[in-house]
Amino acid sequence: MPPLPVAHEIDLEKALPRDILSDCGNTLLKLGPAQFSTWLFSQEASTIQSVIRYISFLKVMYELAQSIAEIYDWRSPPGTFGKKGHLRHIGPIEMMFLVNHLYVMDSFDVAGDVLECGASHGYSTCVLSHACARLNRKLFVADSFEGLPATRIDQAFFSKGDYAASVESVRASLATIGRLEPAVLIKGFFGDSLKGFQHPLCLLWLDVDLFESAQDVLRHVFDCLSPAGIIATHEFTDFHNRPYSIDNKCPPAAIFKAYEHAGLNYRPIHLMRYLGMVLGDNAIQPDAGRFLPLLLNKLSAMDHRARQYQELKQSNTVRAAFRIKKLLLALKSKPSESASPPSTDALSIAEQYIDPEST
Ligand SMILES: C[S@@+](CC[C@H](N)C(=O)[O-])C[C@H]1O[C@@H](n2cnc3c(N)ncnc32)[C@H](O)[C@@H]1O
Repeated sequence: MPPLPVAHEIDLEKALPRDILSDCGNTLLKLGPAQFSTWLFSQEASTIQSVIRYISFLKVMYELAQSIAEIYDWRSPPGTFGKKGHLRHIGPIEMMFLVNHLYVMDSFDVAGDVLECGASHGYSTCVLSHACARLNRKLFVADSFEGLPATRIDQAFFSKGDYAASVESVRASLATIGRLEPAVLIKGFFGDSLKGFQHPLCLLWLDVDLFESAQDVLRHVFDCLSPAGIIATHEFTDFHNRPYSIDNKCPPAAIFKAYEHAGLNYRPIHLMRYLGMVLGDNAIQPDAGRFLPLLLNKLSAMDHRARQYQELKQSNTVRAAFRIKKLLLALKSKPSESASPPSTDALSIAEQYIDPEST
């Protein structure tokens, strides 16, 4: 879970979907971000259509992002093939920032589709495909489907061919755990494959690792981005969590340069881990990503896995079982002085130790 944001840094008017802003008057907004996020999950809020729609979208996407991640991990447990051989390279919570922003833009009628550059085995592709299907946007997916191109000498972490996955395997994943209908797969190295790309975009998702790759993408598609849209990147920070600047030869620098080249102001916002977004002056709801962690906290409490775990921890039977186990272990490690074993059975011994009032 990302660290919770500092509440006073969030302006709810710049964070929420438009219909929620208009349905929830000023009095509610004055509650402030933390209390308002609690209110969104209240019985009272659950009677408001715009709230039901937003929370349901987030809840369903949260479950999808988690379960698709579990399926990818089941097929390639983290660490099995080393860092780059793993089938998934971004986490489900990071994906929530993208789909949340997409929802918020949708509520403001921001036009345009989504372009993902860098699919690898298609984890982020599958998650985005569900969000795009729900919000009726196309999802363009561009990748060489042969892995990274040749790298510079100072990019020692990467090598040619890293993250390679075939276009057929990504299509098969979309068909089984994603949604095929919104997806348009574009095969080839960006310098060629995105030449002449002309579809209006509201979200450009760059997960391409290399500065040159980001430059190739932006050269061809920057002008397609709606002024209200955003560019998100998975290379926002270095391995020490420090955001890259325009002087680093890394993907964010290519984004900053594209804005500068177009004579536009921009604002970089770090979201979590390596994820960040860059917004122009006209981008809507710049605080949406700061508010989201407050909602994710509540969504994770609603999560059946977290709930089951809590229920399990609180169940008297399980508590009793743990105490019996502890007791038996203690008895085993401390053999009784007398030669004969205790006459009472384990359960009755355990009962003496179990205080039903204790938590
Ligand atoms: C880190 S992986 C993407 C991970 C993916 N988003 C996920 O969810 O697991 C980076 C991808 O960018 C692609 N890529 C990088 N530079 C490229 C270029 N110049 N042209 C085409 N594809 C490129 C690679 O083929 C690779 O699949």
